[in-house]
Amino acid sequence: MQIIRTIEELRVFKKNHCSKSIGFVPTMGALHLGHLSLIKNSVSNNDITIVSLFVNPTQFGVNEDFDIYPRMEDKDIELCKSAGADAVFIPSIDMLYPNGLDNEVILFPPKKMANVFEGAFRSNHFSGVLRVVLKLFNLINPSNAYFGKKDAQQLLIIKKMVNDLFLDINIVSCDTIRDKNNLALSSRNIYLDSRSYEMALKIPQAIRSAISLVMVNNLESKKIENAALDCLKGLDVDYCNIVDLNLETIDMVKKDSSLLIIAARVGKVRLLDNCWF
Ligand code: PAJ
Repeated sequence: MQIIRTIEELRVFKKNHCSKSIGFVPTMGALHLGHLSLIKNSVSNNDITIVSLFVNPTQFGVNEDFDIYPRMEDKDIELCKSAGADAVFIPSIDMLYPNGLDNEVILFPPKKMANVFEGAFRSNHFSGVLRVVLKLFNLINPSNAYFGKKDAQQLLIIKKMVNDLFLDINIVSCDTIRDKNNLALSSRNIYLDSRSYEMALKIPQAIRSAISLVMVNNLESKKIENAALDCLKGLDVDYCNIVDLNLETIDMVKKDSSLLIIAARVGKVRLLDNCWF
């Protein structure tokens, strides 16, 4: 597996593999089995898989955890290798933002999608995500790019960008990988002590109660949200809503085009989860 740290090296790597289909998995590192499932998905469906490891400063707010975001490059490189990746791209901030963070063209997703839910708690977060993802897409030119359904709003906004800007990239949505107690894996789970971990399990319980209602054709959003909220008692819930694929709240679940999205805080740790109906 090749470790690529500069744009020049990336261009040489691409030239050497020019007729092959490239699968791309963008990450911020601190890899866990969720990331690895994306990488394995890409490895099985493309000639070449490139994983990026880059903690992107433009998607963190001023009071967020950019400085203390877990960074474990050596371990991540080993994990990428074991999952079958062909290259990891590890750019520096200066390399991806050579003109500085405040002196370049910025992308803004539509407010209706970007200023709600996560965006209401993290201003300009999705603008930062699109900035870095578009740069990476342009540098790597993948045929397929892999994103987790775990970050549902991010996934839907990236699909919107690809569609609106006519990018010739297939976005592959990958299922959420969970631990043995059904908690969605996240790089931030390492901040949970054992008591917070037990509390956090209320989130998959809320999801299970929502699924049980939908399975018996109980499709009223309010009922489903209330059943989920009942399970979440004791957590600080930022939101718990049924939405459509444009992230608009809806009164009734429409199968195959709705999801329940949840963000809740356990102490200082903010956890996201969702389920797609
Ligand atoms: P990061 O949080 O590292 O996540 C990288 C990818 O892994 C995302 O597509 C995310 O949805 C997916 N992922 C995270 N947890 C998962 C799980 N439990 N199961 C399946 N997939 C999971 O998301 C980002 O980085 C950044 O915003 C990025 C897109 C790299 C742009 O900086």
